[in-house]
Amino acid sequence: MKHLLKLLDLSKEEIMDILNLADQLKYELKHGIEHKILAGQTLGMIFQKSSTRTRVSFETGMYQLGGQALFLSSRDLQIGRGEPVEDTARVLSRYLDGIMIRTFEQREVEALAEYGSIPIINGLTDFCHPCQVLADLMTIREHKGTLEGLNMCYIGDGNNMANSLIVGGLKMGMKVSIACPKSHRPDPAVLEFAKAYGDKFRITESCPEAAADADAIFTDVWASMGQEQEAAQRREIFAGYQVNQELLGVAHADCMVQHCLPAHRGEEITAQVFEDHANEIFDEAENRLHAQKAVMATLMRK
Ligand code: CP
Ligand code: NVA
Repeated sequence: MKHLLKLLDLSKEEIMDILNLADQLKYELKHGIEHKILAGQTLGMIFQKSSTRTRVSFETGMYQLGGQALFLSSRDLQIGRGEPVEDTARVLSRYLDGIMIRTFEQREVEALAEYGSIPIINGLTDFCHPCQVLADLMTIREHKGTLEGLNMCYIGDGNNMANSLIVGGLKMGMKVSIACPKSHRPDPAVLEFAKAYGDKFRITESCPEAAADADAIFTDVWASMGQEQEAAQRREIFAGYQVNQELLGVAHADCMVQHCLPAHRGEEITAQVFEDHANEIFDEAENRLHAQKAVMATLMRK
């Protein structure tokens, strides 16, 4: 494994190795056992979109691994003035040991990997959010003891989160059910991937159908970063796609609720469901740190 560009590129074994290492690093951190695996190394973090969790967990994680992280806002980089990503990749490869990038087009992340000579980590694109879903899988396994055979459900926009959850869930042996409007289905490449899993994958417009017997229900915002102008229209399109008490009634009694955050209470999730499941949701946010440390250690260890 040279990069983390999208979960489609990873095998089940590679994902499992990251989850196992993440558990180990979490244990070590909680028990005061140092793990300076990346001593002296520098991660560059390019952000073309806002971030709370991704920025802080990568920066802290790199520090805990013995290295340092540089926050590179695209507002300040020459990339923001049109310097090609292909050139940026070759320049930054001469200074850094790894790059984390959050941007719009998946193509840019792939180009960084193609032209650079250091590991590239996708910190969210419009297509996918692999770091988040590694943390999500880690959290489900932590709470349920296993992933194999569990029912994952996703309610809402067929966006970057939906794309990565489908791929990650199916690869790890889960059954995945998605409820979304016909007009906002996941990416065609992801639906094509899911086809091979037969009845382990279901897509419907009905939330109760998707949530039936769920072990973990996921949702995400109705308007993602970059879609702010569509927010009003999207509120109408997604009005029925909410994780609420009634929907949880059709899931298993011990069903987890997960949200990558930030959450919009009263839209994709009710305040009550959010607070009832806050512990699981903030475990999920915490696990970004541990999962990403495992990704960096895997890719950047010399
Ligand atoms: N979930 C997530 O990626 O959060 P941030 O946008 O705050 O990084
Ligand atoms: N779908 C959301 C996820 C945020 C972590 C977005 O892209 O804005």
